[in-house]
Amino acid sequence: MEVSGLLETEVAGLRLRNPLILASGVLGNAASLLRRAEEAGAGAVTTKTILPEPTRGYDNPVVVELPFGLINAMGLPNPGVDEFERELREAKSHLTIPVIASAGGGSPEEVAHVAGRLQDAGADAIEINASCPHVREHGLEIGSSPELIEELVREVRRGVKIPLLVKLTPMVPDIASLAKAAINAGADGLTAINTVRATYIDVEAMSPVLSNRVGGLSGPAIRPIAVRAVYEIAHLGDVIGTGGVETWRDAAEMLLAGAKAVGVGTAVMTKGLEVFREISEGLSSYLSRKGMTVKELIGRGRDC
Ligand SMILES: Cc1cc2nc3c(=O)[nH]c(=O)nc-3n(C[C@H](O)[C@H](O)[C@H](O)COP(=O)(O)O)c2cc1C
Repeated sequence: MEVSGLLETEVAGLRLRNPLILASGVLGNAASLLRRAEEAGAGAVTTKTILPEPTRGYDNPVVVELPFGLINAMGLPNPGVDEFERELREAKSHLTIPVIASAGGGSPEEVAHVAGRLQDAGADAIEINASCPHVREHGLEIGSSPELIEELVREVRRGVKIPLLVKLTPMVPDIASLAKAAINAGADGLTAINTVRATYIDVEAMSPVLSNRVGGLSGPAIRPIAVRAVYEIAHLGDVIGTGGVETWRDAAEMLLAGAKAVGVGTAVMTKGLEVFREISEGLSSYLSRKGMTVKELIGRGRDC
């Protein structure tokens, strides 16, 4: 499709044919699915967060669909890094767009170990998941503290030579302090935002629907929070703006707030992979109408 110069962008040292990146976790990890995202028009893909060991995740139900978004508490089910390395090599042998591998773990050393293995298996960039809102020891304790983020990023940076991104939570009073800590410690960019802690109670059953009771809210409901987060950190480093993007207007808003690329997650689940082409085509028409490229649009909505 496109590869029109209008849509090209660069984020954290990655060159993309268009700014739309499959967000972590929403499609699973099969190489064939990542390939389908490329065929559907994504500019890059992110893997689900990979942990050192295989993990089952939570029992069903793990997702609740609401009119304005999803609440999920999957519990980071995953094959573990040994198994996933094979899948990543297989994906890389077919994909031409960059693969961002999401690394997690219970300590800086574990995350660094996973990140190193994913780098060796051919990832084009690493995204540290420092922000999962519903898995103990895999997110918010580290992700809410600038000191712990700095320690984590320094440890991972020692072994990672490819672009390194840090995924941030919006559930802190000052997201800029986290962004600064990540960049100071050597990150090349930031992904904002992960999901927002939430729950849903079935009034007939009179209990929370999710087996974990609390999960993370994604989709349109969190878009204004994500745009605000991007707005508050885009002057500190390159940002992949993620959260509630469903249409070309939403993507344009993220770029105007200062994001250099745009993550698309829940919309892939609710609208299908066609959403990449729909957003790209809408964005191209908008840019032609404005006589601008994506690179010229980035940050134009910031009043500084
Ligand atoms: C079902 C589901 C699974 C997710 N799994 C991960 C994950 O493994 N790692 C991660 O960093 N983010 C994960 N996320 C968060 C998304 O990558 C994204 O940051 C968030 O959903 C906001 O974007 P969206 O509104 O476009 O979905 C997941 C989100 C959903 C809905």
